[in-house]
Amino acid sequence: MNAAATPTLTQDELKTLVGQAALQYVTPGSIVGVGTGSTVNKFIDALASIKDQIQGAVSSSEASTQRLKALGIAVFDSNAVPELAVYIDGADEIDAQGHMVKGGGAALTREKIVAAQSRQFVCIVDESKLVSSLGRFPLPVEVIPMASQRIARQFAAMGGTATLRLKDGQPLVTDNGQHILDVTGLSITDPLAFESQVNQWPGVVTVGVFAHQKATVCLMGTASGVKTITYA
Ligand code: 5RP
Repeated sequence: MNAAATPTLTQDELKTLVGQAALQYVTPGSIVGVGTGSTVNKFIDALASIKDQIQGAVSSSEASTQRLKALGIAVFDSNAVPELAVYIDGADEIDAQGHMVKGGGAALTREKIVAAQSRQFVCIVDESKLVSSLGRFPLPVEVIPMASQRIARQFAAMGGTATLRLKDGQPLVTDNGQHILDVTGLSITDPLAFESQVNQWPGVVTVGVFAHQKATVCLMGTASGVKTITYA
């Protein structure tokens, strides 16, 4: 019989582990693409320990920009940097192919923009985010406010239920001045086709399925340590 049980890591500790592990993908002298969320906050904190070895970051949200700057990391405009070697971000769900659902922190549009200008997407998650098929987490969709009701009806026709995201009783306003619909009841069996389809609906700014900008690598925090998964 085991004398001592293996200590179980908390979700917060798993986030710290993967945030620190992501440093290995940051090359000296580079500008790093930085996502948004509680897991990325752990990465930003770790990045501060090597801030003198990098030029700085391109950020995916006002929240991450504030945290980066507070830690003394320079933040570059995405338009000033044609290409990034690596983008590091969390996810709300990730499947076995590296397709993700993102946007729980309402930063999906800028996240997709920075991901698109990066050669590699390193996704940092704890294992609770792994799904067999996307659709468990309510799908965030950033929309132009005047189109939200029509877009909600389009999701209803697919079997989904769209709810306007609120903050302090009012519609949440994104960094881009738009609204977020959270859609439940969807089973996203073909993420590439789904992303392409919904992106074409007038008034959709960004759908939170990241299939065209999927992860190239996932650092997954598990009970037995950080697992590295590489996708084709
Ligand atoms: C923000 C995001 C985040 O990456 C996602 O919500 C995961 O966040 P967390 O690391 O806090 O679980 O997409 O828009």
